[in-house]
Amino acid sequence: MEKAKTSSFCVIGAGPAGLAVCRALSQFGIDFDCVERESDLGGNFNVANSRSSVYRSTHLLSSKRMSEYPDFAMPDSYPPCPSHTLVLDYFREYARKFRLTDRIQFNTSVESMEPESAGWVVQFQNGSRKRYRGVAIANGHHWSPSLPQVNGELNGKVMHAREYHSPEIFHNKRLLVVGGGNTACDIVADAVPVASRVFLSMRRPVHFLPKYSFGNPGDVTLRLMNRLRVPMFIQRFLSSAGARVVNGRPETIGLRTPTERIFDANVTVSSIVPFHIRQGDVVVKPGINALEGGQVSFTDGTREEIDFVVYATGYQLTFPFIDLKHLNCVNGVPDLYLRQFHPHRDDLAVVGMIHAAYGGSWPLMYLQAQLLARFWAACRQDCDLDWFRKLRTQPSPDLTGGYAKLASKRQQLSVEPVRFSKHLNRLIRQFDQRHNIQTSETTVETQLPVQRAA
Ligand SMILES: Cc1cc2nc3c(=O)[nH]c(=O)nc-3n(C[C@H](O)[C@H](O)[C@H](O)COP(=O)(O)OP(=O)(O)OC[C@H]3O[C@@H](n4cnc5c(N)ncnc54)[C@H](O)[C@@H]3O)c2cc1C
Ligand SMILES: NC(=O)c1ccc[n+]([C@@H]2O[C@H](COP(=O)([O-])OP(=O)(O)OC[C@H]3O[C@@H](n4cnc5c(N)ncnc54)[C@H](OP(=O)(O)O)[C@@H]3O)[C@@H](O)[C@H]2O)c1
Repeated sequence: MEKAKTSSFCVIGAGPAGLAVCRALSQFGIDFDCVERESDLGGNFNVANSRSSVYRSTHLLSSKRMSEYPDFAMPDSYPPCPSHTLVLDYFREYARKFRLTDRIQFNTSVESMEPESAGWVVQFQNGSRKRYRGVAIANGHHWSPSLPQVNGELNGKVMHAREYHSPEIFHNKRLLVVGGGNTACDIVADAVPVASRVFLSMRRPVHFLPKYSFGNPGDVTLRLMNRLRVPMFIQRFLSSAGARVVNGRPETIGLRTPTERIFDANVTVSSIVPFHIRQGDVVVKPGINALEGGQVSFTDGTREEIDFVVYATGYQLTFPFIDLKHLNCVNGVPDLYLRQFHPHRDDLAVVGMIHAAYGGSWPLMYLQAQLLARFWAACRQDCDLDWFRKLRTQPSPDLTGGYAKLASKRQQLSVEPVRFSKHLNRLIRQFDQRHNIQTSETTVETQLPVQRAA
């Protein structure tokens, strides 16, 4: 490949993925600018950021030991699933410890990026432009609301969950929350004590899994089963049985039974919402038919008086600053090797375009960043990289391990953490064995955190 006119790289975003990339590039002495449109780091987990989707009650769903970066443990004093404030403290401490904060240019939004024969010209919101040898896109995928097309209008307030911060706004309202994911459940749980009535509309029934089992976060058990290669049918059996012990059979508590098996689609992690449904605090409805003034009609022909609707209908993957043709997109989703590497370009990668089927995504983003830094360091040293360039043109191996097989938009970024990290670690090892890549540190942590007590 032709040589770029600069040796500097650009990292877009200083959320969990961007921080992992900054850390890895620093370790390999690669010159970079990290640009962040907000005035602070932490991405989604900084509630002060204008596009954060996190709300006051947010606690991690993934346990701390499955969410921490492999080279920096969350403090033992943290609870198993810490609050967003503790998580932000952790990211700040990470950036401080590895001297990343000074490398981030805040209030710097990427407006566009155009390829050159080698490298990119990046244009910023203030009109300035800069040439880079390569760009790592770590812009996140939980900030651009996905809104359903619903007929009619409501005489009341309608908003997407991204605008939601705390439940006072629901005081004395007849609230309808739309969606069956984790956000819908958190908002429903927040609203029950303050709203006069709470309805939950789910167009598709979901499997609810309790957050804790035997006192430990559920992801710890799932990780153990995958490490031990417990077959999927046994995982399904044990998890369904566990869910039934805590939540009961769906039909006994007024829920429709999901048509697909547990783990075929992303599960919803909640024991509070099934409890509230059982208590009669929350009424479950099917999909919405239309908004009709003071009422909402549903697909089963029923109607309810509603004066507040929150669409917890998820987020869309979006890359507004780059022509999608440069990302090798298929149906709007970049088709990249291991969700990360462009099949033909050395100078472009996406980090963080994943959803961990259970557990946290950040240790996986860390491994993606480690691999990327090795690749770019090897490019810098003019290593013979034909083996990797050939590999990345192949279809990715199966990353889902049987989880989230349902062909729907919501499942498309799912990865099974044990399997995904194995693929990444294998490639990291290959880079280390084949190429004498110089790093500024003697040991670089690439193993996922050891199984400590949650
Ligand atoms: C309520 C909630 C709870 C969650 N809980 C968990 C959990 O328990 N465990 C878990 O693993 N995940 C959880 N997630 C998912 C979480 O969003 C991601 O794990 C995490 O934020 C992904 O990090 P990221 O860096 O890829 O993206 P983000 O955190 O979104 O960071 C992207 C950064 O890029 C910046 N940026 C974007 N575009 C530009 C641009 N054009 N120019 C410059 N900067 C730009 C943004 O400002 C942002 O700072 C949760 C999500 C939500 C909504
Ligand atoms: N505490 C936490 O850690 C926490 C809290 C909240 C969210 N999160 C994470 O944040 C991410 C986003 O979660 P999310 O719940 O906001 O989104 P999500 O997981 O994408 O779920 C969106 C829900 O809305 C439904 N939906 C989508 N489009 C719809 C439409 N047009 N009409 C009706 N229903 C529609 C989906 O149904 P279908 O399945 O039928 O598409 C799904 O039930 C996830 O990774 C989640 O795990 C974590």
